Amino acid sequence: MKALVYHGPKQVSVDNVPDSKIEKATDVIIRLTTTNICGSDLHMYEGRTDVAKGKILGHENLGEVVEVGKAVDFIKKGDRVVLPFNIGCGFCANCERGLTGYCLTCADPTVMPGMAGAAYGFAGMGPYQGGQAEFLRVPYADFNCLKLPEDAVEKERDYVMLSDIFPTGWHATRLANVKPGESIVIFGAGPVGLMAAMSARIQGASQIFVVDHKADRLALAEQIGAIPISSSDDNVTEQILAHTKGLGADCGCECVGFQCFNAAGKEVPNMVMNALVDAVKATGYIGVIGVFIPTDPGAADDLAKKGQIAFDFGKFWFKGQKMGTGQCNVKAYNRRLAELIHHGKAKPSIIISHEIPLAEAPDAYKHFDNRDEGWTKVILRPAA
Ligand SMILES: NC(=O)c1ccc[n+]([C@@H]2O[C@H](COP(=O)([O-])OP(=O)(O)OC[C@H]3O[C@@H](n4cnc5c(N)ncnc54)[C@H](O)[C@@H]3O)[C@@H](O)[C@H]2O)c1
Ligand SMILES: [Zn+2]
Ligand SMILES: [Zn+2]
Repeated sequence: MKALVYHGPKQVSVDNVPDSKIEKATDVIIRLTTTNICGSDLHMYEGRTDVAKGKILGHENLGEVVEVGKAVDFIKKGDRVVLPFNIGCGFCANCERGLTGYCLTCADPTVMPGMAGAAYGFAGMGPYQGGQAEFLRVPYADFNCLKLPEDAVEKERDYVMLSDIFPTGWHATRLANVKPGESIVIFGAGPVGLMAAMSARIQGASQIFVVDHKADRLALAEQIGAIPISSSDDNVTEQILAHTKGLGADCGCECVGFQCFNAAGKEVPNMVMNALVDAVKATGYIGVIGVFIPTDPGAADDLAKKGQIAFDFGKFWFKGQKMGTGQCNVKAYNRRLAELIHHGKAKPSIIISHEIPLAEAPDAYKHFDNRDEGWTKVILRPAA
């Protein structure tokens, strides 16, 4: 089969690799019809993780079931399914509590003591191959597949966003504990930040501020109903205070991650986290879903090499703020967010900028990584 393979920093190609096959009776194989490139792939693409050469990337996967393991009960050949980027077992202590981003059964225990969580095509998240390919092996298929309704093909471009960014954006707003009528500040207008803005709007936020350097992405945020704030201005906090009677937003989201940069393009790892402490009111919640990693040998900054940032903890403590972090538990939200799509209450596909064959993925990685104007979200069509 053909698949997008990581060969080293900024080196990916579409190669012929062995077909995905059933390894356990609880697996299915799907033929990918849509699979996306994600901002998380860029951390790997840039060589800023320890992802192994030879890994097939791709964790935002939707397709048709073509082969079913003997112990799979509910999922049938021909079903159209979207897969959470997390791989869960359904029976461990964390999956049982709905924390499927922290599965104990599927995790790779060699990553670090107490490691939890697994994903397709991801650094440190187990041996699973990704779905930027023609076929994908899905473990514990009855648990992990979300079967799509009769408009699966018609709304495929929306449903594919249930694999990651729509639930992840929603999760950011839940970690931020946004309530109807509250204001929220979201740093990052990438796909995840834009989905957080859409989620906040659906949940009835009164003012949604989205901060980014990129004008084309801020324009999309505005289309979603947010107030765009350019982070090239050095008075981001002042602008938010001016909109919120000097108090700060009721809550905030970090949707950028450890590679955040300043207006000059230089990485400043603590920049967004400290900006959130300033821009969110005393007692407010901060949801951090941008990825941070335990070690970052490729960082220019000495603290960042050890996975640390100079965080304004004193101010955070003094303001009595609260914080939630980590991978999204996609299964906690995807079924209900699918209902919003099905009934026309959410249209996450509005952020798609490029829809291309798998063969063109290497070129798309380049553009998306440069954050070239207009390259907001790329979806790949391996079956086209
Ligand atoms: N926790 C999870 O489950 C989960 C899931 C998916 C993605 N992620 C992570 O979320 C983050 C965002 O993903 P994405 O797909 O939107 O990526 P992206 O890289 O396309 O978007 C990041 C955006 O942040 C902006 N940015 C950079 N520095 C900034 C600053 N100082 N202030 C404001 N904006 C700034 C960039 O211009 C860009 O538009 C990544 O770290 C990704 O790995 C986490
Ligand atoms: Zn993703
Ligand atoms: Zn589990």
